[in-house]
Amino acid sequence: MTRGRTVGELAEATGLSVRVLRHWDERGVVSPSRTPAGHRLYGADDVVRLHRAITLRALGLPLDRVAALLNGTDPDPAATLRAHLAGVDADLRRRRTVRDRLAEVLADTGDDVLSTVLREMTMIGSYVHGYHETEATRLRDQAATLADLLHDGVTFPDGAHVLEPGCGVGAQTVVLAARSPGARFTSIDLTETQVAAARARVEAAGLADRVDVRAGDVHAPPVPPGSVDHVVVFFLLEHLPRPEEALVALRQVLRPGGTITVVEGDHGATSFHPDSDDARAVIACQEVLQRQAGGDAGIGRRLHPLLAAAGFDDVAVVPRTAHAHAGRPDLADSLVRRTFTPMVAGVREPALAAGLITSERFDAGVRDLLRTTEPGGTFSYTFFRATGTRAASTSTTPTNPGRA
Ligand SMILES: C[S@@+](CC[C@H](N)C(=O)[O-])C[C@H]1O[C@@H](n2cnc3c(N)ncnc32)[C@H](O)[C@@H]1O
Repeated sequence: MTRGRTVGELAEATGLSVRVLRHWDERGVVSPSRTPAGHRLYGADDVVRLHRAITLRALGLPLDRVAALLNGTDPDPAATLRAHLAGVDADLRRRRTVRDRLAEVLADTGDDVLSTVLREMTMIGSYVHGYHETEATRLRDQAATLADLLHDGVTFPDGAHVLEPGCGVGAQTVVLAARSPGARFTSIDLTETQVAAARARVEAAGLADRVDVRAGDVHAPPVPPGSVDHVVVFFLLEHLPRPEEALVALRQVLRPGGTITVVEGDHGATSFHPDSDDARAVIACQEVLQRQAGGDAGIGRRLHPLLAAAGFDDVAVVPRTAHAHAGRPDLADSLVRRTFTPMVAGVREPALAAGLITSERFDAGVRDLLRTTEPGGTFSYTFFRATGTRAASTSTTPTNPGRA
């Protein structure tokens, strides 16, 4: 009879530290028996389990997932591993963006390489609007304010399955679901914190029975190919380095005859009175930083070519302008004070860190934006709503999904 192996012996055999083995025991990953004196003793089964745990950890799975997979308590191991694969893919894409941008910046620097890299890459790889509570509030305000303008006519028939990638905190999700009371939604976001916030919002709205919120990457949506009736995307493509790839992936999960609806903004279509160079400089900071992060704050004007290049048919785009003025104090408040200005003001720190603007000019620009809500002021912003169809008779892969 073998007596089993001590934690020290196993540490030596596996290359893991004793501390890690103890931690894995506490987290239920590999919990060996104990000697009468309380020392850990690993039997043959524990050693097999340990090697399995090492394999799963090497894939990058977090400890609690490893424990659930080994304990047989994960309800759907295949789905867990597929979601993990999507995360790895997303990470690779982020790294590719960082790599390409760094190579581009380094090819173009003068003597002060470090300053150039710091200036040009401040926001690389990050979500330009951030994930803090102010941003969540902004997204909720934006959804409520602009619901009529952006959602008008966006309804889905009873029984339809709708995929909403990049659902964020669920601000649009609840509006979409409320306007299509017979449709079923799968709403996904790359970030776990957004998923948790969206799920809570959906539950609070009493929609949890037909809105499934989960983690997922728009480039590899967690639904079978050809299974979705409609896709609806709000303010996501503007953040993606390669939106055309996301659109191709979305077209593939649509059934033949299914539709896509995309709503995005375009900062280039912003106008206001009184005009202000400082306010324009603040908006430009946000555009630059978003571009550095791989996105495009002016994507609205590109929606038609992007959808067409991804292989969608019947592509149509309608501009939807929100115009705030004295006759629409509600819009001045919600669009300018609570949506647009907080969004651009949110890049103050990275804009200053990147040396794009002085703090005095930034603050003056924000004040000038808010001044447009005072008597005599006006403010306009144009959103673009694009629709397209996956034609019943075309092939799954477009012939030229290149950059539009
Ligand atoms: C501006 S927010 C929009 C949220 C929501 N659609 C709305 O309009 O309120 C963009 C969201 O897209 C998510 N996102 C970014 N890249 C993504 C990706 N590759 N797959 C899925 N979601 C992504 C971000 O985490 C963020 O929550």
